Amino acid sequence: MSYSNIIIDKKYPLAIVTINRPKKLNALNRDTIQELHGAFVLLEKDEQVKAIILTGSGEKAFVAGADISEFADFSVKEGKKLAAKGQELLFDLVENLSTPVIAVVNGFALGGGLELAMSCHFRIASDTAKMGLPEVSLGVIPGYGGTQRLPQLVGKGRAMELIMTAGMISAEKALDYGLVNHVVSQEELLPLAEKLAQKITNNSSVAISYAIKAVNAGFMNTVNGYEAEIKAFGACFGTDDFKEGTTAFLEKRKANFPGS
Ligand code: COA
Repeated sequence: MSYSNIIIDKKYPLAIVTINRPKKLNALNRDTIQELHGAFVLLEKDEQVKAIILTGSGEKAFVAGADISEFADFSVKEGKKLAAKGQELLFDLVENLSTPVIAVVNGFALGGGLELAMSCHFRIASDTAKMGLPEVSLGVIPGYGGTQRLPQLVGKGRAMELIMTAGMISAEKALDYGLVNHVVSQEELLPLAEKLAQKITNNSSVAISYAIKAVNAGFMNTVNGYEAEIKAFGACFGTDDFKEGTTAFLEKRKANFPGS
């Protein structure tokens, strides 16, 4: 399979997946999500790959979110489909992958970028990284699992504050919140990821895959919050605030929400 938006470097027993759209701060467009889906499916099947590192190219961004230019004119139905398809193709896939996936957050991890990092089994970050869920500043809500996974990782109150303020937190704060496990300099980041991944690969990969299943099982609810998120995300696409929020971003100006 050939890829134009990601790079896969197999250094058995590790594989490093790099999202490679640095000019767009590695924003997740449709093709990138599709390529990541294909790559993770193949890597999970590759018995020589015992741990996967996921990062972004360049020093500025891990992923600066879903590609806003692709969904700015979506309808309610299309918005709902965007969230449902993305969750299924990538975010749920990564979370439930039997091979461990470490997110290496090398810069901005915003919106879909933070949601992707949160789908990984754990995260480490550079001291330059910045994280947040800025969706409400665009008149929409996180739609790739952010309303569910952020409270799981940092607690409900902190998640509510981050989501409502659309603010960004530093790597140090993320460490304090438990959102990332380690913070090191940019130069030390990939070596640390490889060291942690190597440690993992010394252990039983079968046992690790069962451990992933067991840990994830503890976070399954009877009421499906992810479906509630998809519905609410889709509904945002019918609002004037969403039209204004995304248009303002693409026109590089501050949003002036009619609903505020
Ligand atoms: N979707 C589409 N394009 C994006 C993007 C996104 N989520 N994030 C960044 N880009 C693009 C910019 O439009 C710009 O493209 P251009 O050079 O063709 O104009 C390029 O990436 C560089 O971004 P820029 O905004 O110029 O960099 P900056 O250093 O001034 O700001 C950020 C960096 C991360 C603060 C800013 O890009 C940003 O706010 N991005 C959107 C974050 C967001 O809301 N994500 C959630 C989406 S649901």
